[in-house]
Order: sequence, then structure tokens, then C-alpha cells
Amino acid sequence: MFKDNTLENETILITGGGSGLGLSMAHKFAKLGADIAICGRTEEKLEKAVKELKEYGTDVHYYVADVRDYEAVGQMFDGIISDMGKVTGLVNNAAGNFLSASEDLTPGGFKAIVDIVLIGSFNCTHHFGNHLIKQKEKGNILNIVTTYAEDAGSGFVLPSACSKAGVLAMTRSLAFEWAEYDIRVNAIAPGPFPTEGAWTRLFPTKKFEKKYLDKIPAGRYGNHEELANLASFLMSDLAPYITGECVTIDGGEKLSAGQFNFIDSLMSRSKLKKVFKMMKGK
Ligand code: HXC
Repeated sequence: MFKDNTLENETILITGGGSGLGLSMAHKFAKLGADIAICGRTEEKLEKAVKELKEYGTDVHYYVADVRDYEAVGQMFDGIISDMGKVTGLVNNAAGNFLSASEDLTPGGFKAIVDIVLIGSFNCTHHFGNHLIKQKEKGNILNIVTTYAEDAGSGFVLPSACSKAGVLAMTRSLAFEWAEYDIRVNAIAPGPFPTEGAWTRLFPTKKFEKKYLDKIPAGRYGNHEELANLASFLMSDLAPYITGECVTIDGGEKLSAGQFNFIDSLMSRSKLKKVFKMMKGK
């Protein structure tokens, strides 16, 4: 789908880029010619990721930084400019999440997630946006949210649902405000893409996982490459007129809310068709 130079002139920072979906996006962006900066809290993870990413021959750097810390994020951007000369793209991918009954949450637990997801995204976006505006340069922001950021929210992940909804509001608010500066702001709402970080925290047993898989119309989880392709498109000059958009990529999972979709889980499709036939003409 993409030419090898699709992201050739880009320098993209991916937060939480040392593992999981962040690292998968980094691989794809580097393969398409982008210079890559990744940040995270664990140096060993970042070091290992940078070694992997160097295979594509572009410039790759890591920064040990906690997105919750506004000053540290500012120093990281100074470091990127000094090491790499510019920064044209930001992917707010760093996240935190855990399962909990909401009545059992502590204020500290709620705050921990809001700080990583909402405040962390603001911190990076604010520094990045100010840099671009000051330099009179165009740029791209991509926020990784979730399918529950919109509409239904989700029980048992209240801090994440509130934070991701905030990030989505930020996406649309800034897309309008910063279009003036040629800064695009979009979001991707991924359904289930297996990563160690999410899976160990959100699926404690095989039974949880099986139940979850059952509600995905496509009958499978997403492949990281599929998400990385979408992210590459949105971060590239192939999408210069798209801003403020949130693209869902979830194998149809979100559509299970359709009023009569539940009947699909009652019996096999062939049995259902027999029932429909019996009902015809009644
Ligand atoms: C209840 C919990 C908890 C849990 C931590 N806390 N884990 N409360 N249940 N399982 C509470 C603690 O008691 C503490 O509150 C507060 O949260 C901070 O905990 P710390 O361990 O001190 O925080 P910290 O070391 O900063 O770690 C943050 C973290 C951790 C979020 C808790 O798990 C983390 O770093 N996660 C990053 C990676 C991650 O979560 N990836 C999954 C993203 S998946 P008190 O009150 O005691 O101070 C995702 C997509 C979802 O977002 C969609 C998937 C389909």
C-alpha cells in the first residue's frame, strides 16, 4: 500500500514506544523512512527497541522520560531537537490501565491512570504544539484512544474510560484550534490488539479472554501491522485534509450494541437462518 519513502521527511516521537503497539508503529514508520524517537520509563526496554529499529537505517533515539512530568517532557523535546534537528510528528501512545470495581478504586489509583493517559497526552501535545507554532512548522498528532472513549464508556476501567474520553475531546478541540497552524490532530480507537501490557492487566484468565473473543464479529484479534498501517496513513502526507477524526479499528466489536445483534450469540448462523425461514410469512 505504501511506498518505502512515504514517511521519509518525518521525525516522529512515539510515547511508550519501547514495547507493544508503540513499538509496532515505530517499526512501520521507520520502514517507511521516518526518523524515530521513542520514550518510556524503562531504559532497558528502550535500548533493546532502538537496536531493533536501527535495521531500517533511519535515525533512531530513545529518551527515558515519564510523560506525567511536564518539565521532563520539555527536556525530552529539547533533546530531540538537539539530537535529531526537528520533530514533525507525535503519537500519544503511552497508557495505563487496570481492572477494578469503581467503588474499590482509591483516589491514587484513579489519579495514576488520569496522569499517564490524559495529563501525559496533554504534556506532550502542549510542548510539541508550542514548538511547531514557534518554528512556524506543520506537524501531526495521533492519539491512541479506545473504542470505549466514545458513547458507552466502560465498566471496570473507569479511570481509563474517563481519561481516554478526555483525550478524544482534546483531539477534536485542538484539531479545530490548530488547523490554523497546519497541525493535524487525529485519533485511532483500537479494539483488541494483543500486547503483554494490556493482556496481563485486562485478561486475568483464559475464560475472560475467550468471552472477549466471542464478541468480536471478525472472530479474531487485530494484527499489529493492521494498526500500524492505519497510523502510517494518518501520519503521512496521504491524509493532508483529515483532522479531528477518530478511526475505529476493531473487527466490528463496537457494533455489538446494535439492537438485534445479540441473536447471533444464541445459536449458529445456520440454525438462525432456519428460525428466520420458519418465521417468514407469519
Ligand atoms: C487497583 C491499583 C492497581 C490495580 C495500581 N493501583 N494497580 N488499584 N487495582 N490493579 C493503584 C495503586 O494502589 C496506587 O494507588 C496507584 O494505583 C498507583 O500505583 P503504582 O503502582 O504506584 O503506580 P505506577 O508505578 O505509576 O504504575 C502505574 C500503573 C501500572 C498504571 C498502575 O500498571 C503501569 O505503569 N502501567 C503501564 C502499562 C499499562 O497499564 N498498559 C496497559 C494499557 S492497556 P494508591 O491509592 O495506593 O496510591 C490500555 C488499552 C485498553 O490502556 C484496551 C484494551 C482492549
